[in-house]
Amino acid sequence: MSVVPPNSDVIVYPDSQRLSSAAADLIVGEIEASPKDRFSLGLAGGSTPADTYRVLADGDADWRKVDAWLSDERWVPHDHEDSNGRLAARLLMDDVPATFVRPRWAPWLYAADAAAHYEAELRRLHPDGRADLIMLGMGDDGHTASLFPGTAALDAPDHRWFVSNFVPNLDADRLTATYSFLRAARHVLFLVAGPGKAAALRQVLEPADGETTLPARGVIGGDARVTWLVDEAAAAELVATPSRRAD
Ligand code: 6PG
Repeated sequence: MSVVPPNSDVIVYPDSQRLSSAAADLIVGEIEASPKDRFSLGLAGGSTPADTYRVLADGDADWRKVDAWLSDERWVPHDHEDSNGRLAARLLMDDVPATFVRPRWAPWLYAADAAAHYEAELRRLHPDGRADLIMLGMGDDGHTASLFPGTAALDAPDHRWFVSNFVPNLDADRLTATYSFLRAARHVLFLVAGPGKAAALRQVLEPADGETTLPARGVIGGDARVTWLVDEAAAAELVATPSRRAD
């Protein structure tokens, strides 16, 4: 059963390299096409976006109008190897004249307080409550950002945009955008690649009756237009989802 709502779009690429190149083209196109003085870009964590960041860093866009921020972050020091912000800075943000707003971290700071402070920064950047473009990945358990199955952030109050979230399976605190903020975006861009994601992507896009709803599906159906850029390997189990193939 595929009930991908009308404002969702699935595009399948032969491999992750072409997915990454297409993602970079889409992001640059939206930055350039935006009529606004500022463009809000939410950066995804994890490894999938890395090649997209590299392509963006080598390309050209009006980065001076971009306010970049993180759709989620690990609760680690800024220079920690696990930091999403560190990865985005090293692959892209250090090389372009965008504004990059990262959550605070300090040994004496509580994750919840850091999330609340970051949320205030996001409210300053988004007076209308809507990010222009948010990049997201998806884990093989169907999590997105740091909205993991069975965790408290899935039920964050609607007025919250960014919260801390303890993830028992990782025994770690995370900071994450909430469904409320993600679903309000103008455009959400999922990047999903590799065979390890195929089962979860099928369950997210083509949930069988009675199957658990995986977190990534919760981003669909809000005000955001949602585009899924996936490679053939991740799309291998999709049978009913309308999709376009791209080369
Ligand atoms: C994180 C991410 C997370 C990520 C998925 C996919 O902090 O880990 O934001 O949501 O997008 O886990 O990760 P990969 O791209 O590494 O498969």
